[in-house]
Amino acid sequence: MGPVRRRLYPASGRPGSPGRANLPTVQIGVMGATGPAGQAVSVQFAGIGIDVIVGSRSEERAADTVTALKEKWGGRELPLHPGDNDAAAAADLVVVATPWDGILTTVTAAEEGLAGKIVISMANALTRWGKDMVPLLPPTGSVTVAVARALPRSRVVGAFHHLPAGAWGDLDHPLDADVMVCCDDRKATDEVVALIDQLPGLRGVDCGSLSSALAIEALTPALLEVNRRYKTHAALRITGLPERPGT
Ligand SMILES: NC(=O)c1ccc[n+]([C@@H]2O[C@H](COP(=O)([O-])OP(=O)(O)OC[C@H]3O[C@@H](n4cnc5c(N)ncnc54)[C@H](OP(=O)(O)O)[C@@H]3O)[C@@H](O)[C@H]2O)c1
Repeated sequence: MGPVRRRLYPASGRPGSPGRANLPTVQIGVMGATGPAGQAVSVQFAGIGIDVIVGSRSEERAADTVTALKEKWGGRELPLHPGDNDAAAAADLVVVATPWDGILTTVTAAEEGLAGKIVISMANALTRWGKDMVPLLPPTGSVTVAVARALPRSRVVGAFHHLPAGAWGDLDHPLDADVMVCCDDRKATDEVVALIDQLPGLRGVDCGSLSSALAIEALTPALLEVNRRYKTHAALRITGLPERPGT
């Protein structure tokens, strides 16, 4: 039997989110879900009861990852399902959690399956320069824009770039963080912000079009340096935003 799907919002939409789109029934696929970032995304969405397809280039690695995550979070009955990256791409909404230098190969191979869907890119292009982590500038300005160009039939959204995966993957201790979201499609932004708002401790923040992706991605190495210097798992909060009614 296939995974059970659930409706994320009541038909009336999320309370206190006027103008926010109602979300359709959602099953989430994560491509490259065997790494720390993809595992964190997977357990967080599964933790709020959403079916997650844990994708990998290898079905065996995906199965091992699901087994390990279910063992780790034994009491929670997480709706995690292993599959290859094509299976993850077949979900309603897809997060791509591969390293930046593998992301175009990954999404291009799945272009057909990803057509018409929201595809979230969380990849940061960065490298070590001496002791420091530094951003790399892709020819398109950002990885997210490169993904959007590779997927002209998808609604590509940048999000989750700054969340420290190790800490975010701990279901017992939710992060306290904002998630900067950017996209050229306002409705897709609204859907992703509303989705993020459901995750424990997180608030989605609309940061504008994909032209913001360069700055968002390039900030990540600075946060990694903060982590290194303060021996912590830093995350961002943006001040000065109006409170959302109902929150
Ligand atoms: N780690 C973090 O704290 C964090 C936080 C925010 C954002 N991110 C971003 O999230 C992405 C994943 O981070 P990560 O630390 O989880 O990375 P990772 O462990 O290096 O890679 C994640 C998974 O991607 C797959 N993969 C590796 N190389 C690939 C390639 N060349 N082509 C296709 N798939 C490949 C592998 O899965 P299979 O071998 O099973 O296919 C791997 O387990 C990165 O782009 C990173 O910038 C990371």
